[in-house]
Order: sequence, then C-alpha cells, then structure tokens
Amino acid sequence: MPGKYMLNFDTSELPQEEDEYIILGSGIAGLYTSLAASCAGSSVTVLTKHAMMDTSTDKAQGGIAAALGDNDSPALHQEDTLVAGVGLCDSEAVVTLVSEGPDRVRELIELGAIFDCDSNGLALTREGAHSQRRILHASGDATGAEIQRVLTHHVKENEKIRVLENHYVVDLLVRENTCYGVLAYDQEAKILKVFRGKVIVLATGGLGRLFEHNTNPEIATGDGIAIAFRAGAEVMDMEFIQFHPTVLNITGAPRFLISEAVRGEGAYLRNSKGCRFMTGYHAQAELAPRDVVVRAILKEMALTGSNKVYLDLTHLDPEVIKLRFPNITKTCLDYNLDITVDCIPVAPAAHYMMGGVKTNLLGETSIRRLYACGEVACPGVHGANRLASNSLLDGLVFGGRIVNETKHILQDYRPQYREFACDRLLEPVDIDFAAVRAELEVLMGQKVGPVRSGTGLKEALDFFDYWSCLYRHEVENTGQMEVKNMLLVGELVAEAALARRESRGGHCRVDYPDTLKRWQKHIIFRR
Ligand code: SIN
Repeated sequence: MPGKYMLNFDTSELPQEEDEYIILGSGIAGLYTSLAASCAGSSVTVLTKHAMMDTSTDKAQGGIAAALGDNDSPALHQEDTLVAGVGLCDSEAVVTLVSEGPDRVRELIELGAIFDCDSNGLALTREGAHSQRRILHASGDATGAEIQRVLTHHVKENEKIRVLENHYVVDLLVRENTCYGVLAYDQEAKILKVFRGKVIVLATGGLGRLFEHNTNPEIATGDGIAIAFRAGAEVMDMEFIQFHPTVLNITGAPRFLISEAVRGEGAYLRNSKGCRFMTGYHAQAELAPRDVVVRAILKEMALTGSNKVYLDLTHLDPEVIKLRFPNITKTCLDYNLDITVDCIPVAPAAHYMMGGVKTNLLGETSIRRLYACGEVACPGVHGANRLASNSLLDGLVFGGRIVNETKHILQDYRPQYREFACDRLLEPVDIDFAAVRAELEVLMGQKVGPVRSGTGLKEALDFFDYWSCLYRHEVENTGQMEVKNMLLVGELVAEAALARRESRGGHCRVDYPDTLKRWQKHIIFRR
C-alpha cells in the first residue's frame, strides 16, 4: 500500500496561500459549488489540473435528468434511479437528488443555460431505463458544453472566485483526521505550493482513463480518489464502473461517445449480421439499463465473432437527426459516415465511476473539513449502476449542499498553522512510467472490464502488487504522478471486484453470475 504522500516535500520551505474554500476541479460540481460558496459570501480558490474547460462536464452529450415534464414526478424519477441501481442506492440520497434536482436545474436556466425547447416548452427526451421523457438537452447533443459555458462565464465574472489552471493537486494535508489544505504542483511555474483552506472540496471527476477504451477526457485519471485514500478517507463501491454501450469503434478514430439519446429517439442496435437484438434481451429493448445493454452487445459480438455492433438511425427522419444530433453527425462525417444512411460501428467503453470517496448527504467525507461532490464522490446515489443523465444533476445537488453544511465551519474556524512533510524519503528510480501506464490501461480493459472473473482479477492484482514498488520512489513530473495514482485506484477497483462474489449492475462476474441478497451491501476501503 502507498505511503501518506506521493512526493518528498516540506511545507515550511514552500510558498503558501490561504482561502476560505479550496475547491479542486472545474466541472459542474466544482464550479457550481464555487458559485454557491461565493453567493454565501465566501472567497474561493479553484485549482484545476489543465484548462478550466478540460472536464467531463464539457464533453457530456445526452443531458441532465430532472422531473420537469407534465406527466413526471420526483417519485417516478426516484423509482427509475433505484431500479437502475440494483438494490445498492442509498434511498435518502436518491430522494435528495430527485426532489432538489428540478430547482437546481431551474437555477441553471436562470444563470443563462439555454436548453432546447419545442412547442410545449423544454424539449425532454428519454434515455435508457427512464420511464418518462425527462432529459433536458442543449444544442442537440452538446448539453455539457452549454452548462460548462454558463458556469465558467459566471465564475470568471465573480470577484470572490479565482481559478488557477494547470495546478495539479499532489496530496491533501491531513493531520489528526482534519484536512488543512493541499499540496499542489504549479505546472507553469514548475513549483510546489501549499494552499490552506477552511473547507477543502474534492470535485476532481472520475477515473475512465484507467481503461484503454473510454469516453473520458485526459484529466480523468482517478487523482481525487487516490489523494483522498492516501490521506485516510474512506472510499466506497469501487467495483462499480459504468461502461457506456455505444462508443464509436473505428480503427484510428477516437472513442467518441454516441449518446444514449440516439436510442432515446428511436435508433436500433444491430449485430454485425444486421439483426436487431435488444428485443431478445430486455422488455425495454434498446432502452434497457446500461449494464444490460453492454452485456447484450458483448454477447452479440462474441456470437458473431466481431469487435463491434451497429447503431442504426436510417429509419428516422434525416432532418430530425441532423438537428437533434449535430455534433454526432459532424464527428461521424469526419470519419466518412453519414449517419442518416450509414449504420454507426460502436462498442462499449468505460464511462463513469459509481463509487468514489464516501460522503454523507451533506458532502462530508470521513476526514474533517474535507468534502467531495460529483463523480469523485460516492454518496450512494447511483448504487450499482447510474441512471443515464443523473450525473450532471448529482454534481449540482450535492455540490450545493456542501455550502449549506459548511457555514458553521467558517464561523467556528480557528487557524492552526501546522507544517507538513513527507514522512519517509522517497528514492529516485529509472522506470518507464509511460510503459507501465500503457500496460495498466490494457489490463484494466481486459481483466477489470465489463465482464470479470476471479482468475482475471487476481492477474490484475498481481500486476498492481508488482508495481507497488513504485510507491517507495520519487516522481519527476505530473505524468508520473498520474501513473502512481492510477496504480493505486486500479488496485482498489480490482480488489473490490474480487471481493464482491456476485454480479450486480455494472459489476459482472462470470464465476458468480447471480445477484445475491447477502451482497446487498457496500465495500468500503480505508488506508
Ligand atoms: C449519453 O449521452 O449517453 C451519456 C449520458 C450519461 O452518461 O448520463
């Protein structure tokens, strides 16, 4: 297991800054929490690893779910979320999400987010496992980009918030189970800095980049989970990774997401022999829960000896398709596919982390003054399988709650200037970190992917055990730091997946195919 810190450092020798809130990450969760904190009168520093817009939020296509339709209600949204989560959702967390969600979405609209409308008002679409049309979307298939645009605009205008880009958070500064701040590497100035805060919020996103095939941006290397775990926080549900069923699969092309909303508008899935197959797997056919669709696709791929299946929109109105999915239409055209006449080759890829840093409904982690929201956090709202388009909503709802919760911390805060240093000297090492990372990504896809076995998971754990030697060594740059974090987080996922001897939601074991009552519980790790 890793030590408490990734680098040699001594805070007494480093430049130090201080703010009320230190928020890590600039996606929907980080930016919305920053705005809420500033509205409550606090000053905020946001640290983000690359540019402000390099987030999973910015890439989100399908939309944001909220019970705003005439025939819809939070109770129906709750029911769908619980069914998709296969018995592992925290029901209070789900009630919080679905009942507070509509107001948070209205707030986004007041801030200037422009969602698509039709003659009835907001245009709502369906996605897998939703019983109602309740997904708001923007510019057709660029919902996340619209939300990111609006939040970024307001954050940039706000004098109480400063955003520091290219700041890679290396570790949390924790003593006696209280978080005092963070150690960050300024990638432009090439120096380590200390940021002290009264409230530290993790909103660093997910870990999709651990898998060779994924839909995530470069930043998604699991750093938030790794730094929290090293600092002693509890992490939960690490075995539950969501694979998206339909990601573009053309040799040489990026794994570009083909939104579930495409199936919501009526697209079919066909195997490589041209047969529509989802009707044989689930009553909701193409709109079955994501994990069901992924396994059906993998089965069809195996049966037909192909590495892909096809999304067929050719029976839909071409003008509607182009209007509704402009981004997908254009990207496919770049690869010589006209989606109004050609079927789109797709395969599953890693997409979302249901588990993460364990929090309660107020965003509190198991470490005092350390909070978490968005994909890095696990309040238990998604259970074993997230309902489509619930993730942007999760970032808004639980991000906002942190600010209400932390008011008392700001009032009662008494500064304590403690210094921190790495507790053991890390030695330099001459290892090709890039090669380790490449092997890890392939291994995660093959052994810790959508279908797992005890034998494969043990092979993965042997790999992590072997490379645990790197924890004793110093790193030279952020690329190497990412690899260390990926090794740690990959091991947590594989360890949890081996421990859970059943199949449930996003976790499927060929050697334990049944969903078992005795496993209706969470796996929690702490260093
Ligand atoms: C999609 O557009 O299919 C992704 C939506 C989501 O992951 O919630």
